[in-house]
Amino acid sequence: MNRFYITTPIYYVNAEPHIGHAYTTIIADVVNRYHKMMGSKTFFLTGTDEHGDKIAQAARACGVTPKAYADRVSGLFRQTWPKLGIENDKFIRTTDPEHVRVVQYVLQKVYDAGEIYFSTYKGHYCVGCERFYTDREMVDGKCPDHDTPLVEREEANYFFRMSKYQDWLIDHLEKNPDCIRPERYRNEVLAFLREPLDDLCISRPAERLDWGIPLPFDSNYVTYVWFDALLNYLSALGYPEAEGYREFWPVAQHVIAKDILKPHGIYWPAMLKAAGVPMYQHLNVHGYWKTEEGKMSKSHGTVVRPLDMASVYGTEAFRYFLLREMVFGLDANFSEQALVQRINADLANDLGNLFSRTLAMTERYFEGKIPPFASEAEAMDKELLGKVDNARAQFQEEIPKLGFHKALMALWECIAEANRYIDYVAPWSLAKDPTLLKRLQTVIRNLLEVNAIVAVLIAPFMPETASKMLTRLGIDKRPQDLRLSEDGCWARLTEGTKVEKGQSLFPRVETGDKNREKVEKREQTVKSVQDGKKPEETKAPLIDIDLFRQVDLRVGLIKAAEKVPKSEKLVKLIVDIGEQRQIVAGIAKTHAPEDLVGKQVVIVANLKPAKLMGIESHGMVLAVRDANDLKLIVPEAKTAPGGRIS
Ligand code: ME8
Repeated sequence: MNRFYITTPIYYVNAEPHIGHAYTTIIADVVNRYHKMMGSKTFFLTGTDEHGDKIAQAARACGVTPKAYADRVSGLFRQTWPKLGIENDKFIRTTDPEHVRVVQYVLQKVYDAGEIYFSTYKGHYCVGCERFYTDREMVDGKCPDHDTPLVEREEANYFFRMSKYQDWLIDHLEKNPDCIRPERYRNEVLAFLREPLDDLCISRPAERLDWGIPLPFDSNYVTYVWFDALLNYLSALGYPEAEGYREFWPVAQHVIAKDILKPHGIYWPAMLKAAGVPMYQHLNVHGYWKTEEGKMSKSHGTVVRPLDMASVYGTEAFRYFLLREMVFGLDANFSEQALVQRINADLANDLGNLFSRTLAMTERYFEGKIPPFASEAEAMDKELLGKVDNARAQFQEEIPKLGFHKALMALWECIAEANRYIDYVAPWSLAKDPTLLKRLQTVIRNLLEVNAIVAVLIAPFMPETASKMLTRLGIDKRPQDLRLSEDGCWARLTEGTKVEKGQSLFPRVETGDKNREKVEKREQTVKSVQDGKKPEETKAPLIDIDLFRQVDLRVGLIKAAEKVPKSEKLVKLIVDIGEQRQIVAGIAKTHAPEDLVGKQVVIVANLKPAKLMGIESHGMVLAVRDANDLKLIVPEAKTAPGGRIS
């Protein structure tokens, strides 16, 4: 029996799950489900990365111990995945005792082999990355990732002789061209390797940081978080003795985004080689999800939370969107508008319509029973069959190399062809002529067969939808029990089986305020779960005066106000702040537009413009929530509009 082993990165517990984490974990789920469907024995691993400076700092900011902090946020990740239809086999935490044992075992092994040495190092350190940067790597004295100043630091530490593995790694990547894929990332790693590789500092003095795994050969030090984290891929399999390791390690594949290419493309292979463990089979690297405003950032409030999206639009639609929209390896933009468009066009129109039309006609013409293939296939039937064959072939060709959007495009070509087939053959005309009964039977049977194959081919992407479709087509199988070789063939259905018309698979999505309100409500809940507090009580981090001064607060005079049509909360204002500004404010529930005109308010004047219900807003009105009421913040006495608040 073939084996398949897939891993996601283990996510840091200093942030709640967002769309990027969800994407990686969903694609691992899809490819894992695919391999199951191909008859392989599979193992799918995800988890959380819990040690290191970053986590210790986040815990301190919340006033709890690192362990308590990690328990809470790790729990949040663990609870999120099933809600997104993800079925991982194991959820590992780097604080698990078995993991700690394996890290210490490997460290000792590599140390005994003489591959770790003690030395003093002076350099430029980034707390965010938890690593030193070389002169070559830093940009204007700053961290290239965080754009924050690096700190001068001198330390005696343990170093792993990573440089020794440079030539071996180049050779391996040249001999195994698809080891790191897509090719652009393999080239990126090879480009790193053209420069001399430094040895890797793998320890941190315990007096400075005790939230880590102690080095087995020197308890004054803890393990550098990457040396600890990467080993999760082995410890989860029970390395070195367990059967799981023997079974699954030879077929190990990792999925990551481009941000952590270097640790996975360079540190990890060198660590494996030094520990005498064979190299992984594939490193699959995807691009970044961005929002319209650019990179997702917590401080700008542009983080997209997967459960918000799933609760508003449905898990299945959210999964479909992510997989269809991103070309594996490239960056993609996330927007709710694009998500709604895909739901309405691809899911409600194309797939939903095909399914309900097919079942409705089976009901109408054959009392809901699957008819026989009663006549010879005609040219159109063959064309349709050609699209089915192509969709199946693309499914098998593309999913193993994570070309999800291509597999889905081929499947949707087949769905579109089937819809065209209905329009062209017009079964309702055949039904009027009793001499054409056999042709009608064949046509409806063809359509039912297409729907059955579509159900099988979408199962890894949208398992719940597949399950609904299969049940209604009279196929008694759970999506996880499907096998492509048995269930993905033409003529899989049984003549005479009763089908069930049911409701539409994907109702069209209304665009507008209702969804936004649901998202906002959900955002509050997720945040409070993470913080373990009610949202209002959330403690903001301390900021310095320079940061505060970046906020341009002005006195504004409201010149005009009108309710935004179809919105309960929004009101459009024209505010004089020395210049006229259009601002959309969420105060309509508590303030009638006519009462607002002539009022003085406080405005955040340098907020990035945003669109609310399609209306541009250039600023924000400050207010305070008091129980269910909202009170505007106003100057003590009349003040000239535009006055700067400090
Ligand atoms: O790096 N778009 O954890 P992390 C797409 N603990 N994917 C994204 C993304 C985005 N905007 N943002 C994050 C770590 N990701 C380490 C990993 S592994 C041994 C240790 C996803 O919480 C993507 O998979 O910062 C990325 O590689 C990962 O989250 C980084 O997660």
